[in-house]
Amino acid sequence: MTRLRFLALAQAGLVFGHRYLSLVPGCPKSPNFIVTPTFALTELRTNLRLASIEHCNAKQLTLGAVPHNPGYPSWRPQRKHPHMLHNRQWLLKSRPQGALTLDNFEFREQGIPETDLKPGQILVRNLLFTCAATMRTWMNAPGHSNRSIDLDTPIRGTGGSQVVKSNHPRFPVGTRVMILSLWEDYSVLEPDTSPTPVLAQPPEVKLIEAMRNLNSCTAYFGLLRVGQPKAGETVVVSAAASSVGSMVVQIAKITGCRVIGIAGGRDKCDLVVKEFGADAAIDYKHQNVSTRLTELCPKGVDVFFDNVGGDILNAVMDNIAVKGRVAVCGQVAGYDSDTPAPGLRDMMKVIYRSVTIRGFAMNEFMQDADTARADIKRWVAEGRLKHREDIRIGFENLPHAFIGLFKGENMGTLIVKSAEPDEG
Ligand SMILES: NC(=O)c1ccc[n+]([C@@H]2O[C@H](COP(=O)([O-])OP(=O)(O)OC[C@H]3O[C@@H](n4cnc5c(N)ncnc54)[C@H](OP(=O)(O)O)[C@@H]3O)[C@@H](O)[C@H]2O)c1
Repeated sequence: MTRLRFLALAQAGLVFGHRYLSLVPGCPKSPNFIVTPTFALTELRTNLRLASIEHCNAKQLTLGAVPHNPGYPSWRPQRKHPHMLHNRQWLLKSRPQGALTLDNFEFREQGIPETDLKPGQILVRNLLFTCAATMRTWMNAPGHSNRSIDLDTPIRGTGGSQVVKSNHPRFPVGTRVMILSLWEDYSVLEPDTSPTPVLAQPPEVKLIEAMRNLNSCTAYFGLLRVGQPKAGETVVVSAAASSVGSMVVQIAKITGCRVIGIAGGRDKCDLVVKEFGADAAIDYKHQNVSTRLTELCPKGVDVFFDNVGGDILNAVMDNIAVKGRVAVCGQVAGYDSDTPAPGLRDMMKVIYRSVTIRGFAMNEFMQDADTARADIKRWVAEGRLKHREDIRIGFENLPHAFIGLFKGENMGTLIVKSAEPDEG
C-alpha cells in the first residue's frame, strides 16, 4: 500500500471521527481487528521515520492491525515524545493455568533500548517472529523446560531481525540475523558473548528462508537419523500439517516410503495428501485413529514420527510393527495444559514387538547441519520439497496468533511479520 493511500484512509477515519474497520490490504478483515485514526497517523509518522533510519521499505511496513484484546489498547494513549522511536513489547504477565489466554500477556511500550552502543554491540529491529508450539512450554515455571521465561520479561522465540545500528565490525547496519529474539521491536545484542547464536545470513538467503530451514532440519534429522526409514516401509506422522510434520511427510516420500499423515480436520488432511504428497491422511478429530491405521497399515507401522504424544501415540502403538521405531519429536497434546500428555498405555508392546523409542532435540545434530541444508536446498530446487508458511501481519497480533496454534488454526509455519526486512 502506498503512503498516499494509507494517509487517505487515516484521514477518512478522522473525518468520520470514530473507529473504522480495517480496509488495509493484508490486514485481517475480521471485526475483531480495528484501526483507529489516531493510531494510524501516529504509526504512519513513526514508520516513515523508521523507514529512513533503517533503510526499510516504507511501502511494506505493517501498519496498525490492532487486535481487540484486553492486553493491547485499541486507542493508544498519547505518546509523551511522539517523535522518538518506541519499543513495543509483549511480556509474560502470568504463568498460564491450563490453556493460554490473552490475559497471560501484557503489552508495554517504552523508549528504544540503549542506542549508545558499547564495542561489540548491535541494535536490531525484530521483524519476523516464529510462533512455535515448543515456546508454550517455556511459559511454565522453571523446571518444566530448560528455557523458562521469567515473569514480566518479553516472550522469547526464534526470529528474523535486521541490524539498525552497529558497533561490531562483522555486523554492519543492514545485516540480517536469525536469533532467539524477544517479542519487542528493538533489542541490543552482543553477538560474541550472546548465550544463543546470532546468525548473520548471507545476502542470497532471505530471512524467511533461513527461518524455514530450522524446522526442516528438525524433520530431516528426526526422520533420517532417529526414525531411520527404509524405502518401502510405512511411516506415520502426527501433526502432519505442522511446520515440522509437513517436512517429515515429504522427506519420507523422497526416501521412498509409504506415508500416512495424522492431522486435525478435513482441510488439513487434504493439504497433507494433495500438497505434501502423503498416501493417506487420518483426521484425528473425526476418525478413530487406531481403527483407521489398522485398515491403512495391515502390516503395521514401521516408523512413527511423533509430534503430539498422548492418545495419538497410543493409537499408533496399537499398530506398531515388529522392530518399529518411534522418533519422539514433540508432545504438543500436553503443552497447553497443566499436565503433560499421557505416556504409553501398554509398555508390553514395546517388548513383544522389539520397538525402539527415541526422543531427540534438533541441536544434537547441528554439527551435520550443512549436509542437511544442502539436501534440503536440492530437494526444494527439484520441486520435491515445499514449505508452507502461515504469515500473520502486525506485532500487535502476536499473542492472538500464538494462542490459535493450540487450536490448530495455523496451516504451516506460523510467522508474525512486524515489518518487511530490507533484502535488496
Ligand atoms: N525435538 C525438536 O528438536 C523439536 C524442534 C521443533 C519442534 N518440535 C516439536 O515439533 C512439534 C511440531 O512443531 P511445529 O512447530 O512444527 O508445529 P506448528 O507448525 O506450530 O503446528 C502445531 C500443530 O500442532 C497441532 N496441535 C496443537 N495442539 C494439539 C493437540 N492438543 N493435539 C493434537 N495436535 C495439536 C495443530 O495441528 P492440528 O490442527 O493438526 O491439530 C497445530 O497446528 C511440536 O511438538 C514441537 O514441540 C521439536
